[in-house]
Amino acid sequence: MPPDFSHTHEGSSPIRIAPSILSADLGNLESQLREAEHGGADEIHIDIMDGHFVPNITFGLPVVEAVRRITKLPIDVHLMVEEPEVLLEPLVKLGATTIDIHIEACEDPKRLITLVHNAGAQIGIAVNPETPLKNVTPIASEIDRILVMSVHPGFPAQTFLSSSLSKLREAYTDKLAMNSQREIAVDGGIGPETGNSVAIAGARTLIAGSAIFASSHGIKDAISHIRQVAEEGLRESIASRNLTT
Ligand code: DX5
Ligand code: ZN
Repeated sequence: MPPDFSHTHEGSSPIRIAPSILSADLGNLESQLREAEHGGADEIHIDIMDGHFVPNITFGLPVVEAVRRITKLPIDVHLMVEEPEVLLEPLVKLGATTIDIHIEACEDPKRLITLVHNAGAQIGIAVNPETPLKNVTPIASEIDRILVMSVHPGFPAQTFLSSSLSKLREAYTDKLAMNSQREIAVDGGIGPETGNSVAIAGARTLIAGSAIFASSHGIKDAISHIRQVAEEGLRESIASRNLTT
């Protein structure tokens, strides 16, 4: 049975919106997060970069701790670091609910998956634009989320790479074939212009930084707008392909 779209409030939407604080006004992080929370954000996305895996340095554990104190929303930590392992348990202790590690940064992803699960959090595997999805196949049944990067990670406000759409479609087909509950998330260049097509392709968690925090319409409206176009996309794909969420 197709999902019910008659509701308007965010909690029951099949689309999850995750504002990325990389584009937030960090001098006013508390009020920005409160606005995102009241605006219907489903989770907060925190990008940790080490200057090696990507050519940028961003946040560390103290920022995760601060965000945890401000909001009750789930916290998704996206690790763009060469050695994710050392951060996993400390992040879960600080309140991360999901940790995304890059498949390109893991020699032994199974071990890291077990570590995160044993620590009590969910695990996502992030995949760079040039990395084929088949690299995730051996561990696909063990992960909670696949995170398709739709830009080369490192910086906010880059142009969405349309090649990520076929990867999202592939991730969605795999999910159906495996009858899996794992979430399909997309990160990079997501906004009102791209939200529709990524939802049609299969994404259900949309991570957006600049389109939310730098929107001239404000955080709340930006979240609603992205959710609206994505829900429209989802409705379209259900109507045309007889899919489920
Ligand atoms: C990019 C980060 C993203 C970033 C997205 O490397 O992983 O989470 O915040 O920013 P936008 O939405 O502006 O592309
Ligand atoms: Zn990210």
